Amino acid sequence: MKTALEQIKLQAISALESCHDIKELDDIRVKFLGKKGELTGILKMMGKLTAEERPAMGQLANEVRELIESSVASKLQSLKAEAMEAKLSSERIDVTMPGTKPTLGKPHPLTMVMDEIKEIFLGMGFSVESGPEVELDYYNFEALNIPKDHPARDTQDTFYINENIVLRTQTSPVQIRVMEKTEPPIRIIAPGRVYRSDAVDATHSPLFHQIEGLVVDKGVTMADLKGTLEIFVKQLYGEDAVVRFRPHHFPFTEPSAEVDVMCFSCGGKGCRLCKGEGWIEILGCGMVHPKVLQNCGIDPEVYSGFAFGLGLERVVMRRFNIDDLRLFFENDLRFLDQF
Ligand code: DAH
Repeated sequence: MKTALEQIKLQAISALESCHDIKELDDIRVKFLGKKGELTGILKMMGKLTAEERPAMGQLANEVRELIESSVASKLQSLKAEAMEAKLSSERIDVTMPGTKPTLGKPHPLTMVMDEIKEIFLGMGFSVESGPEVELDYYNFEALNIPKDHPARDTQDTFYINENIVLRTQTSPVQIRVMEKTEPPIRIIAPGRVYRSDAVDATHSPLFHQIEGLVVDKGVTMADLKGTLEIFVKQLYGEDAVVRFRPHHFPFTEPSAEVDVMCFSCGGKGCRLCKGEGWIEILGCGMVHPKVLQNCGIDPEVYSGFAFGLGLERVVMRRFNIDDLRLFFENDLRFLDQF
């Protein structure tokens, strides 16, 4: 029996030495110390020993059991520590690694230039107004001196919601809304989306942007209009930009003009960019028609004003040499990233 105990002790120790994981360790514990384990099996045979033999054997058996128990416990500890060590080293964070750069968004080129234009007019004492995109026919046309049978309606390819409601074809209706509710002096710009039933191509889109301007006060003249717009163009395109006012017709202004900027690509000689003209048209303007003032309850004998309307897409296309309007609306990041 003594040899059997020694045997068990040696087997247990060598099993523990070669044990490498916690599951295996538990199997070893059960194998030697469990109820059906080897040591228990030996202890059951104690009854067969003589009274003299029993104490010495009992003591030896206890020693072997305690040794195996404490070896299992310390092995468990060291396996746990090893596992923790392995986990820590495999999960280590290298704080010196370069991080992943988050991609930052940026303003759309239309927004960039729109903001710039707003800044220029804010700097001249204008404030920013807005109006609805779904608009009454009255504000989009009638009040602007464009009655139902007026030929100017044909050029505007209007989306009608019903007989009296349209998608606004211009930002000019904001003029009417502002004049109806405001006592002059008035000095506003009204940027926003406008809609026309045009087929999409390089220079047409059913949705585009305009910036409307309106100044109404006592004694406002054509000279104020010219001065204001000249300052605007020079701030937008640079001090050496050359501006020309060309007579035109709009139903809501009298007299009316279009403003051209000398082509920056050819300096007025005529090239592909300006289609051989030497000049590039950028906006329409004029002195507010007395009938329009009257429609808004403003006395044209007391007040006068000027107005202008600028197409944003054209200005941005010229600024960045973009030759296809569709690029603005496709939102291809390869295009947008360039600004
Ligand atoms: N609303 C005009 C258009 O869409 C642009 C315009 C011309 C606006 C002259 C004005 C103006 O305020 O005075 O073609």
